[in-house]
Amino acid sequence: MSNSSGIERDSFSGRFAVVAAVAGSAIGLGNIWRFPYLTGENGGGAFLLVYLFFVVFVGIPVMTSEFVIGRATQRNPYGAFKKLAPGKPWYLIGIMGVAAAFMILAFYTVVAGWTLEYFYQSVAGNLSGKNDAELTQMFDGFVKNPFRPMLWFLVFMGLTAMINFSGVKNGIEKYTKILMPLLLILLIILCIRSVTLKGAAAGLTFLFRPDLSKINPQVILTALGQSFFSLSIGMGTLITYGSYIKKDENLASSASLVVASDTLIAVIAGIAIFPAVFALGGSAASGPGLVFIILPSVFQNMPLGIFFATLFFILLALAALTSTISVLEVIVAFMAEELNMARRKATIIATVSVSALGIITALSYGPLAGLKLAGKNVFELLEYLTSNIMLPLGGLFIVLFIGWFLNPELTKNELTNDGKFKGRFLPLFRFLVRYIAPVAIAAVFLYGLGIIKL
Ligand code: TRP
Repeated sequence: MSNSSGIERDSFSGRFAVVAAVAGSAIGLGNIWRFPYLTGENGGGAFLLVYLFFVVFVGIPVMTSEFVIGRATQRNPYGAFKKLAPGKPWYLIGIMGVAAAFMILAFYTVVAGWTLEYFYQSVAGNLSGKNDAELTQMFDGFVKNPFRPMLWFLVFMGLTAMINFSGVKNGIEKYTKILMPLLLILLIILCIRSVTLKGAAAGLTFLFRPDLSKINPQVILTALGQSFFSLSIGMGTLITYGSYIKKDENLASSASLVVASDTLIAVIAGIAIFPAVFALGGSAASGPGLVFIILPSVFQNMPLGIFFATLFFILLALAALTSTISVLEVIVAFMAEELNMARRKATIIATVSVSALGIITALSYGPLAGLKLAGKNVFELLEYLTSNIMLPLGGLFIVLFIGWFLNPELTKNELTNDGKFKGRFLPLFRFLVRYIAPVAIAAVFLYGLGIIKL
């Protein structure tokens, strides 16, 4: 039995706190590491265009739906579906979410560890005086190392667990309110440097002039997956966060604001990176190493470069930390509320088990590079399965649940705060969750996985 009913739940204090906490979850490596590398591999502007389509027509409806489910029930995802649909299998979405959280943490925290390595290398002075080939070599050498990626992964996992453990999350939020705007300023400085490099225009063309012939099933599926990943949707993170949102907040406008900021940061990261790629002679299709190779190059080309590089990598690590906290929270809230476990015990068990998988993932470009399934190593497999399959599948069921199963009155009450707002957007929202979003996701699945051919 769920024990959550009698528990006094935390809640975010006010408008800015909601948007800040959800944006803290959404903005992270997904925007600054993953968006640029996928854009680089999937045709630039064409990818951006498809991505923007999904963000607006699928991302906003799914995020709003998660908020509705979370705030209406005041539960973790599993408990929320049990409460809204007793005796029906919808709670399986919650279970899949916990599994996805587990898998995402195992590779996301590895990349977060890479940012710590680069912070360290920057302080140690090793990022200066290197050309593109040397920086590429440095990245490859690092991820192939049998020890360092694992060490940094464990450090980062420990940090995440500590914060979840001690309940100082609110303290963290206080700092991130100052530090994240600082990261944004730093990104803008990087953009200015990048677009003023000689030969930068080709990078802007690459990012903003879509070559529609580059669009294919794989590009579309990747863009859909990235929109889910970047917005932290499809696995119940935002159901959990929604359960902490106060009754007088406007859910739909909070969701739109978060989606807009998240997307803006991704595009800014793109503007910081692609002009430099073309100006400094790198390759847009460098894969997961892209930002770690290109940005040090850019820093070398600006005054106080080492200082900026150091600041950048530590802020990026912090942005990642506010995301890993939110993913771990999904697992911990589930174990605490549904398995009746003490929060601290749940945190320890979750951390130890994620670490076991994470260590394997951390070594998957090095000693375990031979461990492959369908041509993908463990890291790539976790990334593909979660982002391209599990999150969109979760999102599909979430919109189907809101659009076709749940009593529309309940959704209406949540979205208008029991009639306090007019909710003129309600018919549009309903249309999106009933038809546009589910059809879009289902079509991308069938098409992207090669089940249908157009
Ligand atoms: N959105 C985060 C980022 O872009 C990562 C993340 C946090 C996430 N919580 C999530 C991804 C839940 C998917 C689901 O860095």
